[in-house]
Amino acid sequence: MATSVSRNIALFEKCKNFTRAREAQAAGLYAYFIPIHESEDTTVKIGGKSKVMMGSNNYLGLTHHPKVLEAAAAALKKYGSGCTGSRFLNGTLDLHEQLELELAEFFNKEAGLIFSTGYQANLGVVSGLIGRGETVYLDKLDHASIVDGAKLSFGEAVRFKHGDLRGLDQKLADGDRGTGSLIIVDGVFSMEGDIADLPKLVPLAQKHGVALAVDDAHSLGVLGPTGAGTAEHFGLTSEVDLIVGTFSKSLASIGGYVVGDEYVIHYLKHNARPLIFTAALPASNTAGVLAALDIVRHEPERRAALWENTRRMQDGLRSLGYDIGLTETPIIPVLMGEMENTLVIWRKLFDAGIFTNPVVPPAVPPSQCRLRVSLMATHTAEQVDFALDQFARVGRELGVLA
Ligand SMILES: Cc1ncc(COP(=O)(O)O)c(C=O)c1O
Repeated sequence: MATSVSRNIALFEKCKNFTRAREAQAAGLYAYFIPIHESEDTTVKIGGKSKVMMGSNNYLGLTHHPKVLEAAAAALKKYGSGCTGSRFLNGTLDLHEQLELELAEFFNKEAGLIFSTGYQANLGVVSGLIGRGETVYLDKLDHASIVDGAKLSFGEAVRFKHGDLRGLDQKLADGDRGTGSLIIVDGVFSMEGDIADLPKLVPLAQKHGVALAVDDAHSLGVLGPTGAGTAEHFGLTSEVDLIVGTFSKSLASIGGYVVGDEYVIHYLKHNARPLIFTAALPASNTAGVLAALDIVRHEPERRAALWENTRRMQDGLRSLGYDIGLTETPIIPVLMGEMENTLVIWRKLFDAGIFTNPVVPPAVPPSQCRLRVSLMATHTAEQVDFALDQFARVGRELGVLA
């Protein structure tokens, strides 16, 4: 058995005093790091019991698509299990370059660059571009990876209230003209499900002469006539300078990307530390993403099914009396109020066979705790209705619904 260190180390005092998670575990209200031991797309097995997965970002249901699995297996055999080095040195594969070309083409941009995670893509783009004396403007609800990219950069970060473009306009006007600046927003906000107002952001960026980047983590495969995300949704592809995103959602794998003008991508390739100082995306993931991208292009009916499920769930929750905020997408926040209530409802739904994600402080303010539900193209109408029935039953039992 492992032995524990008995010395008293000041640094670790906070670890001993960190009791919040253990208290929730003892109360049976701990909703994190739950091990799944089997997965079949919309159904997972946990502790021997089946649950309908309503907390995944697998929007198009491609993690189990035979073409994705076959492509990943073939690449595993051909290239081995890992790249064992940085893209910069020994870790670049022909598959990486193929994917970069295909992404650029898909998003209608000149060039692309892939990273080992979406998190690193944002770190790399923001910290790679924003140097000393330069500024990045962030929506307060931007993803943590954008915030961390700003922290890693040598420039200044200015945050504006979620969606407050008047406030942003003022902050841009107060900023130092003549130095480089970037506005970066989530295309679809990951906790609210609302869509960035690009028709207003684009003229603002143009008026102030700053670059505009959109994180399409939750929009690729979901928004736009061909699934090419938020800019395509608004018909503003050529006005958005950089599109960043991830392979860990609609593209059913792991990894991240940025697409934009060739000279910007070339610069990032040689200056983004989260690209250079880490190992490259394994061949099996890269090949799986190539196959998934092909499916996004050729099976638009999946996007249609995703939206049908989204509407069914949104309408159902609203008619039950739940507040689902301003969502416009398959990300549905079911607003519950205080943390304890939220965790109790989460647990009751979980026991009834519905997997959702509770979102509690510090991710959201204490009074705005929520269950985050997300839909997939491959959910059946029966699964959506079953989830709605459970939401109705549990809501009434706990007095959340009339
Ligand atoms: C908006 C947004 N950007 C970036 C990321 C990071 O992506 P990844 O999980 O691929 O690192 C996420 C993932 O949660 C996200 O929601």
